[in-house]
Amino acid sequence: MKKVNIALEGAAHEYSIGVEFGLLESAGEWARAALPAEARKVILVTNAKVFSLYGGPVETKLSKAGFEVFVWKMGDGERFKNFSSLEKALSFFGETRITRSDGIIALGGGVLGDLAGFAAAIYQRGIPFLQIPTTLLAMIDSSVGGKTAVNTAFGKNMIGAFHQPSAVLIDPATLNTLDRRELTAGFCEAVKQGAVGSRSLFEQTADFLRIYPPAKILRHSADERFRDHLENLLAAHVRFKAEIVAGDERESTNRSDGRSRKILNFGHTTAHALEKVTGYKRFKHGEAVGYGIMAAAEISKTVANFVQDELKLFNDVVRLTGVLPAADDIDIKSVIDAFVFDKKASGASLNWILLERIGTPKIVDSSDIPKSTIESALQKVLRHTSTP
Ligand code: NAD
Ligand code: GLY
Repeated sequence: MKKVNIALEGAAHEYSIGVEFGLLESAGEWARAALPAEARKVILVTNAKVFSLYGGPVETKLSKAGFEVFVWKMGDGERFKNFSSLEKALSFFGETRITRSDGIIALGGGVLGDLAGFAAAIYQRGIPFLQIPTTLLAMIDSSVGGKTAVNTAFGKNMIGAFHQPSAVLIDPATLNTLDRRELTAGFCEAVKQGAVGSRSLFEQTADFLRIYPPAKILRHSADERFRDHLENLLAAHVRFKAEIVAGDERESTNRSDGRSRKILNFGHTTAHALEKVTGYKRFKHGEAVGYGIMAAAEISKTVANFVQDELKLFNDVVRLTGVLPAADDIDIKSVIDAFVFDKKASGASLNWILLERIGTPKIVDSSDIPKSTIESALQKVLRHTSTP
């Protein structure tokens, strides 16, 4: 098993993330080791689709490990990551009489991981929380680092808390049932992390995509070399994210260096705007990030001396993630107007994460970027074609 430990400064909190094909088999012992010794009950937070694929065996393993297991299923989709689902989850927690010496386990993608984590953060002022991510995005990003939230009428993820999981279990075999668009979305996030992380993480991601394009990934699932490559890639991404989170757990507002947690938002200003102007219907979040990172890379050419050769390599690797939904009909002005929501979320100024080189991010205040540069970058990227 590839094991990544994450130790948070000053928070007296340390946890480990295990990555291995077949790890779901040991969900019982894993939960036993991660939860307080006196834990008796666990609530599995999931949805109907994920439960039908993986829930039964996980429930059995947890029971065999001596837990009384309750299952709470939420609706499937971003629109259910809201106060109404949160209230239902908390009521269920209360009905089971679960306590702070027990635990909540999220089994599924980032939507339910974020909601279950937030419910765990506020139920009895904080109850232990474990994550079993089953989408690529959740494995490399949302399950690690303790950001939890729900969406509101005034914005995505606007209400939430930092609540670190006590452990994360990643079984890449669960990706076998993920549809192609979800894989593309997850790999866009992987390219994002590589581009701001390091040259080697970017190259490792690119090499993987060259050998195993997401559209054909399932045919390799029984191949030992593929499994090893995928475990190594996931572990490398988790390691990178763990390092950033350990150095800046709460995304300090006053940091602007290249290891600030803000760098993980590379591409997100445009991505959030694209999601908003299309009513959160057209793009998976990671797909919007695919366009967002290409726009930010294009802006980097003018504002951060990101050289043409690097830009070409970068765009080629984004292309390897697969086909993105068409964006050529989207009004550029409405996208720029929607940036205001990110601006509101971040305070008086809006930061753009740009690239000086692949692996070397730079945080730039939006007032230092000419509007015409942003407009022409968006024109180029969105009008290009449906395949990035
Ligand atoms: P998701 O949770 O909606 O999952 C995508 C779809 O895949 C869903 O229909 C889900 O039911 C299905 N699914 C999950 N696992 C499956 C499997 N193994 N096989 C088949 N289908 C499966 O979406 P996501 O991309 O995982 O997460 C997106 C969410 O993550 C957003 O709400 C975003 O805000 C959040 N996020 C949070 C963080 C963080 O740090 N907390 C980081 C990035 C994104
Ligand atoms: N996904 C961004 C973060 O965890 O900070």
